Amino acid sequence: MTPTARPTVEPYPVSPVRPVPASIPRPNYVGLDVDPPYTGSDVQPPEIIEAMREAGALAALAIAETGKLVAPGVTTDQLDAFAHEFVCDHGAYPSALLYPGHGAPPFPKAICTSVNEVICHGIPDARPLEDGDLVKIDITVFKNGVHGDSCVTFPCGEIDQASRDLMVRTKEAMDRAIKAVKPGRQLNIIGRVIEAYAKRFGYGVVREYTGHGVHTAFHSGLVVLHYDEPRVTTVIEPGMTFTIEPMLTLGEAANHVWDDGWTVVTNDYSRCAQFEHSLVVTETGAEVLTLAPGEKP
Ligand code: MF3
Ligand code: CO
Ligand code: CO
Repeated sequence: MTPTARPTVEPYPVSPVRPVPASIPRPNYVGLDVDPPYTGSDVQPPEIIEAMREAGALAALAIAETGKLVAPGVTTDQLDAFAHEFVCDHGAYPSALLYPGHGAPPFPKAICTSVNEVICHGIPDARPLEDGDLVKIDITVFKNGVHGDSCVTFPCGEIDQASRDLMVRTKEAMDRAIKAVKPGRQLNIIGRVIEAYAKRFGYGVVREYTGHGVHTAFHSGLVVLHYDEPRVTTVIEPGMTFTIEPMLTLGEAANHVWDDGWTVVTNDYSRCAQFEHSLVVTETGAEVLTLAPGEKP
């Protein structure tokens, strides 16, 4: 493993909060200091699932289109500006915008852009992307009363082989976990599959940030671990909707948060890749709700 030993990313200025047209409905947490706890069922009715197909497809499309802009010299704020407008133009609210922090100010941007050793929750800012950067773009949209949440890691210019392998294998870890989802199994199958695959390559598995139930609530309270935890005995049922979003690192997975209260970085500054899909459990497996156009499950 190759801990880079020193940071490649540092805080840059963050632009002012961009407006969302008043005609677009807001999620319930906007303007609050805490995300109101969800107390309903983990299993969703058909009409919610149908709405999630549309929100999921939009999140995936927004990521694919924003990802096309990733290039040396482009700032993550420019990625945010594009994604913000794209999501609003499709009549949706970018769910990250003003999402309450835990003691931190609300998240100030429409999307998360997490570069290199930033694991997740990177705030788009004035840092220009550099050739060789690994750029995670995480977009959640709120449309028709439900959220669709997805993340893709993009290479900026030419990335080194270790980063490329990490990227490909993190996607593979997520795909394997999705294939392992079946009604009647315990939720801990997901973390077991991801951790076992990651360990083959000596990768770190981030523990503190997890997949989650997603539907009318952005983070429902249902926790989906990416590491093996046999004590999680929740049984997977048809109609459950949640994300799987492994974060794998080239070095140690231990991490800390910047003073901004959001940006999560590896302690050893090793690089991290992440992929995320929102999915619904079917009678026989899982249906991915956040497929990009032309993307196969
Ligand atoms: N989209 C992230 C997730 O996968 C959460 C981002 S919350 C934010 O759960 F406030 F940081 F945007
Ligand atoms: Co998520
Ligand atoms: Co996400």
